[in-house]
Amino acid sequence: MGLIDIINSRYSYRGYLDKEVEQEKINYILQCARLAPSAKNLQPWKIYMVRSKEVKERVCEAYARDWLKGAPVIVVFVGEKGENWVRWDGEDYLMCDVTIIADYFILAATEMGLGTCYIAAFDRQKLKEALNLPENEEPFLITPLGYPDPDAKRERNRKPVSDILEEI
Ligand SMILES: Cc1cc2nc3c(=O)[nH]c(=O)nc-3n(C[C@H](O)[C@H](O)[C@H](O)COP(=O)(O)O)c2cc1C
Repeated sequence: MGLIDIINSRYSYRGYLDKEVEQEKINYILQCARLAPSAKNLQPWKIYMVRSKEVKERVCEAYARDWLKGAPVIVVFVGEKGENWVRWDGEDYLMCDVTIIADYFILAATEMGLGTCYIAAFDRQKLKEALNLPENEEPFLITPLGYPDPDAKRERNRKPVSDILEEI
């Protein structure tokens, strides 16, 4: 699969099969994710991979959707505050760094035939408590990880290049 094929087969899947994800696939995805770049190469991130039923239930209290409960794995991308690069004018790049590692992870998962969905609309405090995160760890994104339900809705609606490109 070329990159365009991988990008084209990624959707926000909101429905998962009751099927475990092979450890080899998870290992491959993590190897891809760890190669993500970050500002000043500070790598200010952690990936929490939740498989235990008990912790999954607690994470789902922070984002209460039945389709998330059905995912075999829930992944949370966390930034380590104070460990990241901040530009001289005060602009903080932690969320940017964490988004990049999440993107690498999600595209590698897609290549492995797995479904994902970026989730940001969670209750931050509940999520921090569910994962028992220390004060300096900030969760930015959640994704389910699993085999997508073939009936899960897929749609693609994007602006054309002409609407987003400014050639100067
Ligand atoms: C930063 C970010 C946050 C998102 N948060 C949520 C969310 O909380 N819940 C959800 O169902 N989808 C969420 N999405 C998924 C978007 O709705 C989805 O990516 C967009 O509609 C395009 O659809 P596609 O991913 O299937 O191409 C989020 C996506 C991004 C990039």
